[in-house]
Amino acid sequence: MLELDEPADLLVTCARGLAPYLREELLALGHEPREERETGVEVEATLREAYRLNLELRTAYHVLYRVAVFRCTSPDDLYHEVRELPWEELIAQDGYVSVASRVRHETVRNSMFPNLRTKDAIVDRIAERRGERPDAGPLRDQAVVSLRWFDDEASVYLDLSGQKLSDRGYRRSPHKAPLRETLAAAIVLASGYDGSQPLVNPMCGSGTLAIEAALVASGRAPGLLRSGFGLQHLLGYDEEVWQGLRAEARRATKPGKPAPIVASDVDPQAVEAAQRNAVTAGVDHLIRFEVCDFAETPVPEPNEAGGIVLVNPEYGERLGKSNELPATYKRFGDFLKQRCTGYTCWLFTGSKPLSKKVGLRANRRLTFMNGDIECKLLRYELYAGKHQKKPDADGAE
Ligand SMILES: C[S@@+](CC[C@H](N)C(=O)[O-])C[C@H]1O[C@@H](n2cnc3c(N)ncnc32)[C@H](O)[C@@H]1O
Repeated sequence: MLELDEPADLLVTCARGLAPYLREELLALGHEPREERETGVEVEATLREAYRLNLELRTAYHVLYRVAVFRCTSPDDLYHEVRELPWEELIAQDGYVSVASRVRHETVRNSMFPNLRTKDAIVDRIAERRGERPDAGPLRDQAVVSLRWFDDEASVYLDLSGQKLSDRGYRRSPHKAPLRETLAAAIVLASGYDGSQPLVNPMCGSGTLAIEAALVASGRAPGLLRSGFGLQHLLGYDEEVWQGLRAEARRATKPGKPAPIVASDVDPQAVEAAQRNAVTAGVDHLIRFEVCDFAETPVPEPNEAGGIVLVNPEYGERLGKSNELPATYKRFGDFLKQRCTGYTCWLFTGSKPLSKKVGLRANRRLTFMNGDIECKLLRYELYAGKHQKKPDADGAE
C-alpha cells in the first residue's frame, strides 16, 4: 500500500535539454536533486510531495514513483521480479492499467516484448491474488506503470502523471507549429521573466509563449488546468489530500495584474486560436492580443525591471517559405532596434543563418531541442543608443 508521508525515490522526466530548468524548479520547490540525467531529474520525496509536483512543475513530462529496482538480465527475470510486487494493493479491481517502457538491453530487440512481460506479470499477480484479471491496454488515462531497464538494472515506477504534464489541457486550438508547453515554459524561465516587466510576444502563433508567461506571472500552477492524473487511479489515492493541495495552489495564485503582456500575429486565425487557448488557460484577462505584422506590435514602455520580448519566428523546417525568412529576420532586427529600446529579446530559432540576419549581437545562446531539431535561444540586449553589451563568457557569438 502506498504511504503518503514515506520518502520515496522519484524520477521526474522531461524533454531532452530541459533537465537544467526542471532541476531549478525542483530546487525552488524545496527538493534537492540527487542526479540530473539527460531526460530527467532524480529526487527523494514523499507521495504527498509528489502529488504537489504534478500540480506545480512547468517543465516536467512525468512524475514517476519508484516501487522497485532490481538486477535484470533477461525478460524472464523481469517477469519474475515484477510478479513479486504487490500489484493487488496498487491497482483497483475494476481498474485499467497500461505499461510504458524504456529499455536498452542486449537480450531485447523489440521493446514491446518487455512491455508485454511487465503487463503479464502485473495481471497474473492480480489474478492469482484476487481471482480476476484487471483490464490492461495501451491507454494512459488510468493507472500507468513505467519500466526503465538499462543494462542489467531495471526500475519499476508508478507514473503519477499518466498523460504527459505538457498536455496542460488549454491548447484546444494548436494552429501551426506550436511549441510544446513545457518547452515554452522553459524558454520563459530561461528569460528570467517573473511578471514584473512588460512582455511582448510577436509572431505568437497559438500563444503558447504568452500563455506560459502569463501562468508564471500570475503564479498559477499549470496542473490546476487539467483534471486527470495517473495518481488518481491508484489504490490508496487520497482525494482529500489532493483537493487540499489543489486549493493551496489556487490560493497561491498572485492577485492583481502583472505588467502588460502583448501577443500579436499577422494571421487572424492564429490570434483567434491563441485567444481561445488563453481563455481555457484562464489568463486571457492578462494578455492583450493584436492581429498585425510584428513591426506594428504595440510595445509598452519598459519599466525599472526593463521589458522582455519572446519570439519564435518560423525557421524553415516546418513552416514558412524559406526565401521570405531572411527578410523577415532582418526586419525583425530592425523592429528590435527601432521599437524595443530598454528591452531584452529572447529569440528562439532552429536556423543559425537566419539568426545572423537579425543584425544584432547575441550575448547569450542557450541550446534546446524542439523535437529532433537543435535550436538556440538567443539573447539580445536593446540598450538605448548604439551601444551593445559585450558578449558573456558563456555564450558569445
Ligand atoms: C513558428 S510560429 C509561432 C508558434 C508559437 N510559438 C506557438 O507556440 O504557437 C510563427 C508565427 O509567426 C507568424 N508570422 C509570420 N510572419 C509574420 C509577420 N510578418 N508578422 C507577424 N506574424 C508573422 C505566423 O503566422 C506564425 O503564427
